[in-house]
Amino acid sequence: MLNNTLYETITASLVQDGYIIIKDALSPTLAQELLLSLDETHFKKAGISSSSHKHIDTNKRRDKICWLDDTHKAQTEFLLFCKGLQEYLNRTLYLGLSYYEAHFAIYNEGDFYEKHLDTFKGKKNRVVTTVYYLNENFTKEDGGALHIYNNEGKLLQSVIPTANTLVVFLSEQFPHEVLPAKKKRHSIAGWFRVDR
Ligand code: OGA
Ligand code: MN
Repeated sequence: MLNNTLYETITASLVQDGYIIIKDALSPTLAQELLLSLDETHFKKAGISSSSHKHIDTNKRRDKICWLDDTHKAQTEFLLFCKGLQEYLNRTLYLGLSYYEAHFAIYNEGDFYEKHLDTFKGKKNRVVTTVYYLNENFTKEDGGALHIYNNEGKLLQSVIPTANTLVVFLSEQFPHEVLPAKKKRHSIAGWFRVDR
């Protein structure tokens, strides 16, 4: 799919439903290349809450993370795709998104992330969330599904984190959780923000 068609599809879904799940979203080899760009020794235990009050609570989340940057071709390609989406959303929906940040997350066997919202308490900063998956040969039996709820707590979607699946949703409207993974699971979580 050409990027503009994809941007248009995502935008229409955000307006209509507030979220979209797209299988085979980007170039077929990108997920594999992103995996190859990783150096697991650079990953750190993930924290909870905004950076000023960050603490590590392994009862809430057990993944470890590493921020994307422009030093690898595949990471640059992914960030360019997201930059393009940012511009498209700003042009069509006037969201005023000023910044995109994204980190890899590794969930080892047994790791999870309990139900949460991506916006930091009392602050309006993360507006649109993206999650992109890198896992070849991942099935329902492998756990690690992303469960997306509405604000009334009703389960809307259970997403199997298979390679090249892209999820986009409005950060303030969808509580979500990662069920315990039964084998190693890789994702990229990203946020379009309005505060920088
Ligand atoms: C997050 C998150 C979901 C996933 O990092 O905030 O919700 O499937 N990640 O990795
Ligand atoms: Mn989240």
